[in-house]
Amino acid sequence: MHVLVTGGAGFIGSHSVEALLKIGAQVRVFDNFSSGNRQNLPSHADVEVCTGDIREPKDLAQAFIGITHVLHLAAQVSVQDSIAQPTHSCGINIQGFLNVLDKVRTHQIERMVYASSAAVYGHPQRLPLSEEDLVQPISPYGLEKSINDQYASLFHSLYGCSALGLRYFNVYGPRQDPKSPYAGVISKFMDCVRQNQPLTVFGDGSQTRDFVFVKDVAQANVKALQAKAKGVCHVATGTSRSLLDMIHVLSKIAGRDLQVIHQNTQAGDIPHSAAQVERLNSEMEMVCATEFQDGLIILMNDVLGVKE
Ligand code: UD1
Repeated sequence: MHVLVTGGAGFIGSHSVEALLKIGAQVRVFDNFSSGNRQNLPSHADVEVCTGDIREPKDLAQAFIGITHVLHLAAQVSVQDSIAQPTHSCGINIQGFLNVLDKVRTHQIERMVYASSAAVYGHPQRLPLSEEDLVQPISPYGLEKSINDQYASLFHSLYGCSALGLRYFNVYGPRQDPKSPYAGVISKFMDCVRQNQPLTVFGDGSQTRDFVFVKDVAQANVKALQAKAKGVCHVATGTSRSLLDMIHVLSKIAGRDLQVIHQNTQAGDIPHSAAQVERLNSEMEMVCATEFQDGLIILMNDVLGVKE
């Protein structure tokens, strides 16, 4: 397998590169390093790094030479930025996506897997969400991801491209920069623990999410590249937990009580999110099995610089 990983120097990308190396794949990382970081990448004979932008078909033409599989993760990943700058976000997440998909078509790539998102659903109509449920995005980011899903499906019908979109739920783990606009609640809270600062909870903390560990997400990416399933598939654990529950586990592993400040619920916040994972389990033969406490311990050790 010669795999092109767009966004390969980023949070999910760099863990995916490591997972690909474990199965003996040759990896070419394609990244414009706007948020990705070379230090996230292992120096390994089977990893090649290529600087380029998915908005530039010429950059992509070079990068696709000799490639058999594509893992497309490069994106504008901030929901908030997509609301502030929708045309900029569209340029990367729709035009950039289409540039990649079209290269998949013209280079007759065996398989493409790309990052979709739970954000396509907006406010869920019912829980747990199934892949068949109504897509009703409430941000340009969610809309862009759902348009990606439609393009991939159309390219399968028109040209026979084998593509699968993975709808990630709330991904956490090492290398998610807590200062970035797309940092999730866990990386923010972990940073507060490191700095001995109070945790700010928006609302009463009863909101729930399906938190999935990044190494499980990387494994799902690899499995999806090897599978034949088309369409879209959730990547989640199938178990949601509340923020208060998460803080309880966090304080247990920190070995002390954590101070919590409550603020008003943020506009647009979704109270509950939960995923059905039957498709991931059966078609991808994959379970996101990292115990929540174990994932948090790995993250805490990484944030505090404790060697495993
Ligand atoms: C995700 C997006 C968010 C977007 C939303 C809409 C990420 C990281 N966040 O949010 O930008 O608007 O989907 O679909 O992709 N929370 C706190 N304190 C904090 C940070 C967060 O209490 O310091 C709460 C939030 O209000 C939320 C929960 O924690 O209720 C999870 O937040 P987050 O990690 O941002 O994920 P989503 O809410 O799923």
